[in-house]
Amino acid sequence: MTQGAHRLSRRAVLATPAMLSLAGTACAREPEQPGIPSGKTLVAYLTRSGNTRVIAGIVQRVWGADLFEIRPPRPYPDDYEQHVAQATRERDSGFEPSLAAKVDNIAAFGTVFLGFPIWGETAPPPIRSFLKAHDLRGKTLRPFITHGGYGVGGSLAVLATHATGATIEDAFVMEADQERRTLNQVRDWLGQINS
Ligand SMILES: Cc1cc2nc3c(=O)[nH]c(=O)nc-3n(C[C@H](O)[C@H](O)[C@H](O)COP(=O)(O)O)c2cc1C
Repeated sequence: MTQGAHRLSRRAVLATPAMLSLAGTACAREPEQPGIPSGKTLVAYLTRSGNTRVIAGIVQRVWGADLFEIRPPRPYPDDYEQHVAQATRERDSGFEPSLAAKVDNIAAFGTVFLGFPIWGETAPPPIRSFLKAHDLRGKTLRPFITHGGYGVGGSLAVLATHATGATIEDAFVMEADQERRTLNQVRDWLGQINS
C-alpha cells in the first residue's frame, strides 16, 4: 500500500463519525507502510484546562497510538493568575522543570504527536524539558498547538532548537477557549450577586 493509500484509509475512517471509536483498533492493525516511519506512534501532550487533551484523545483514537501526559513533579497552581505568574518566571529564567515521568522505551516510537498550549507566547517549560529528556533523533514530530487567540508565538522556534534530529512536520494549530475569559465572566457574575 502506498503512503497515499495509507492516508486515504485514515480519511475514510475520519469521514464516518460512527467509525471513530473503531478507528484506533483498525489503524493499529495496519501493517508497516513503505515511506512511513516504522515503529509505534505516541501522542504526548501537556494541558492545564483540557483543550489540548481533547485533541490528544482524538489523535490517539484515530491513529491507534499510545497516550502520554507530560506533567511536572509538582502541579502548577490551580489559581490561574498564580499559574501565569509562575510560567512567566520560568519562561524568563529559562527554567526547565523535571518531569513526573518519562516515556518508557521512547526508541520504540517512530512518530510522536506532541501537543501543548501556548503559555506566555511560547511553548510551556515542561515541553522544553520533555524534548530534552527524550531522544527524538530520526523520529517524525507532529506538533499540535492550542492558543487563546494570540497565535503560536515563539513555540515553533523552541521545537526547532530542542527536538534535535527529529523531522518536524507542520503544526496543527487551533484557537481554543481561554480560561482567563471564563474567569473574568464568572467573576463578573459572582460580583453581581448580593450576598
Ligand atoms: C500560563 C498561561 C499562559 C498563556 N499564554 C497565552 C499566550 O501567550 N497566548 C495565547 O494565545 N494564549 C495563552 N494562554 C491560553 C492557552 O494557550 C489556551 O487557552 C489553550 O488552549 C489552553 O490549553 P489547555 O486547555 O490544554 O491547557 C495561556 C494560558 C496559560 C494557562
